[in-house]
Amino acid sequence: MSPILTSKALVLGTGIAGLSTALKFADRGFDVLLVCKGDPAEGSTRYAQGGIASVWSKDDTVEEHIQDTLTAGAGLCNENIVDLCVREGPARVRELIELGVQFTRITPAESAEASPETGTDGAETFSLHREGGHGQRRILHADDLTGWAIEKALLKKVDEHPCIRLLDHHVAIDLITEGKARKRNTPGRCLGAYALNEKTGEVLTLSAGVTVLATGGAGKAYLYTSNPDTATGDGIAMAYRAGAQVSNMEFMQFHPTCLYHPTARTFLISEALRGEGAVLKTLAGEEFMGKYHMLGSLAPRDVVARAIDMEMKRTGDKHVLLDATHIPAEELKRKFPHIHETCRFYGIDMTVELIPVVPAAHYTCGGVRADENGQSSVAGLYAVGEAACTGLHGANRLASNSLLEAVVFAHRVAEHGGKQLTAQQESGTPGPDQGLAKPLPQWDTGHAVEIEEQIDIAANWLEIRHLMWNYVGIVRSNRRLERAKRRLELLRSEVNAYYWDYLLTRDLIELRNLLTVAELIVQCAILRKESRGLHYTVDYPAKDERSFKHDTVV
Ligand code: FAD
Ligand code: SIN
Repeated sequence: MSPILTSKALVLGTGIAGLSTALKFADRGFDVLLVCKGDPAEGSTRYAQGGIASVWSKDDTVEEHIQDTLTAGAGLCNENIVDLCVREGPARVRELIELGVQFTRITPAESAEASPETGTDGAETFSLHREGGHGQRRILHADDLTGWAIEKALLKKVDEHPCIRLLDHHVAIDLITEGKARKRNTPGRCLGAYALNEKTGEVLTLSAGVTVLATGGAGKAYLYTSNPDTATGDGIAMAYRAGAQVSNMEFMQFHPTCLYHPTARTFLISEALRGEGAVLKTLAGEEFMGKYHMLGSLAPRDVVARAIDMEMKRTGDKHVLLDATHIPAEELKRKFPHIHETCRFYGIDMTVELIPVVPAAHYTCGGVRADENGQSSVAGLYAVGEAACTGLHGANRLASNSLLEAVVFAHRVAEHGGKQLTAQQESGTPGPDQGLAKPLPQWDTGHAVEIEEQIDIAANWLEIRHLMWNYVGIVRSNRRLERAKRRLELLRSEVNAYYWDYLLTRDLIELRNLLTVAELIVQCAILRKESRGLHYTVDYPAKDERSFKHDTVV
């Protein structure tokens, strides 16, 4: 018998979304089981550089932030979601400050001479960044290590909270639904999840009143990505297998400027650097962004990434250059200490040299379809953060709106989920694991044996990432999408065979999920017969304003 752990709220993921949601449930008095694969600090959150967007300066307005988000989203944002997110943002950011996140403050001297760069919150004056697509400076940041400042503060609070139990190095495998428990075809309510203990190989049954997916994005489906290894789209794949709706997966955001270096793991060069005046150039020294957009190097991300791709194809060069050398050296070092140090480590002094950069997969705009309370289409299952598709980002996410979305929806999920849990308590509805005639089904390993050849997993993983980069990248076509679909189908039969024949490992679980999200990206891309936002196809190179799909749903 594998162990069963029961909680009111089961939260999968310990990035900004999962930690914030867990704290919000726990502050309402519910016991929370918080689960993550690997180390709790690992995930995209800790690598966030630019910051968190929110209306903060007296020169800014909610209406302007809403408009910038809608413009970036290219007509596909859910306006209600944009409105609530932007309006509720400042209160959630204030909570982060109260929790101990050390956003960069400016000195009184700087404040006196540079009012447009600052935002005030009572006595505190914060430095505000500007990034592509933002008409105002509205991005609070902690130097260029914003994500780490947030992750650290949230983890500390979680650690101190008596209502939260953290289970690290546990990989969620699949969701448990009433349908699965009773062997029915419809999912019914979500009852929890199975998770593999990475160290012992044991599979646990996690039973809960509400389950929250905060498992992040799927950037690892691509060969080149800014994302850490955790970003294998596990939550999206699990939700899809459980029968939840997934949408808009064609909108994978490519960040225009990741460091191009033979020995560097993809390292992001924040858009905030362009916000301070850095410009993109070809290797021949030509400033090319003016040809593509009136905002030049600060155009929305989809435009910049595509322009770089076109310039690289036109010139045959393997990268372009980012020139920040005209910005005073002291200012660069003060505002971007981490980027400056990392470039120095790779032998580039950005104060006097141009930085070689390329686009890389960065953010999954699609995901588990979630409403204004973060509820998925399966009862009892919520999605928050990058795993969710709430409609905030539409066809292209505005820079620094991701951390914002995570905190706004963490609050909403806990409000809504908390009411559901209270109603269950008050009506005497049986708690988790007691609502069924039979107890939750145990994980069955069948006749699986220990995996012999890890190498096969690595080879399959690499094949998926190569083919997604080559066939489902920044510029797409019908022919390439169909080819990707066929090759993924072939891989599917191989991966399914591993899955049933071998005892589970984290690598195998991630491979299966990565393949599922790759297939979902291709399916959604095939459904969209136009070019819009992040989805560009040579077969339909323009927007179809008459009969476009608002959302692709699979
Ligand atoms: P993550 O932080 O990725 O956390 C996912 C969690 O889920 C991890 O704990 C992981 O272990 C866990 N997990 C995943 N699968 C499983 C499983 N099967 N079982 C158990 N646990 C699982 N956005 C901004 O708004 N501003 C920025 O400046 C910014 N900069 C960025 C810079 C970089 C380099 C990157 C990669 C992203 C950046 N983004 C930025 C995007 C933003 O950081 C992410 O969208 C956001 O942090 C996602 O948070 P999350 O909590 O949803 O997921
Ligand atoms: C960056 O700092 O350029 C990343 C910001 C983001 O992805 O929102």
